[in-house]
Amino acid sequence: MKDQNIVVIGGTSGIGLALCRMLTESGARVFVGSRTAMEAEKLPGAEYFPWDAGQGDMPLDTLPETVQGLVYCPGTIRLRPISRLTDNDFLEDFNINVMGAVRAVRSLLTRMKKSSSGGSVVLFSTVAVQTGMPFHASVASAKGAIEGLTRALSAELAPRIRVNAIAPSLTDTPLAAQLLSSEDKRKAAEERHPMKQVGSAEQMAHTAAYLLDERSGWITGQILHVDGGMSAVRTFR
Ligand SMILES: NC(=O)c1ccc[n+]([C@@H]2O[C@H](COP(=O)([O-])OP(=O)(O)OC[C@H]3O[C@@H](n4cnc5c(N)ncnc54)[C@H](OP(=O)(O)O)[C@@H]3O)[C@@H](O)[C@H]2O)c1
Repeated sequence: MKDQNIVVIGGTSGIGLALCRMLTESGARVFVGSRTAMEAEKLPGAEYFPWDAGQGDMPLDTLPETVQGLVYCPGTIRLRPISRLTDNDFLEDFNINVMGAVRAVRSLLTRMKKSSSGGSVVLFSTVAVQTGMPFHASVASAKGAIEGLTRALSAELAPRIRVNAIAPSLTDTPLAAQLLSSEDKRKAAEERHPMKQVGSAEQMAHTAAYLLDERSGWITGQILHVDGGMSAVRTFR
């Protein structure tokens, strides 16, 4: 990844932060956008720019003219029965998860097309698209749209730009803190997974780093299920 210009939206927390640390260590130039300003000590070597992906296009003035990679991390976990989900809840989840990603891709498209080595876009879905789970109606609808967006854009932007998504199961980040807030909750979550663990930000970040790298150059239009076996495996005998 040396000398590649990579834009990570949501690189100040959780999976995005773990990814940015890996990328700066590997010599990439990393540009981090989010709503809350980031102290330079948190991520030495990265450049920060403020952007609320929930509204308006990405400000480009501090970004390089050529961009090789874009990772869009913002997401939501609003788990409620359908009777307690309002129209506005669905629209807000769609706006952050999907429209923010659309705005990010649209804003950087010209700069990604300029890259002589091609470009890679990485988006985030969830295990709850592949596997139905109670109380996930809003987030699963939005992330289902991300999976459609991934396939549509990968067709539209081939062969210059690859587009893939990662569909994690429960991962230990600030976003999931409520779901892992006690030893009992954590144990129950681990038990639900065939691999008897919840995911780590680093495991997701490694997958994203691989999808950015040219070693994954023949992979596009894919949804990678990094979920401890949750979507594919039953361990009962
Ligand atoms: N953690 C899980 O269990 C899990 C499971 C399935 C899928 N995922 C997906 O994985 C992705 C990463 O999740 P995570 O757990 O790493 O989340 P996280 O720890 O909450 O980090 C989210 C990042 O996105 C930024 N962000 C949020 N809203 C934004 C906005 N409107 N504009 C710009 N930046 C925004 C946040 O910074 P600011 O708040 O400062 O803007 C932060 O840097 C998400 O798409 C999530 O849906 C996570």
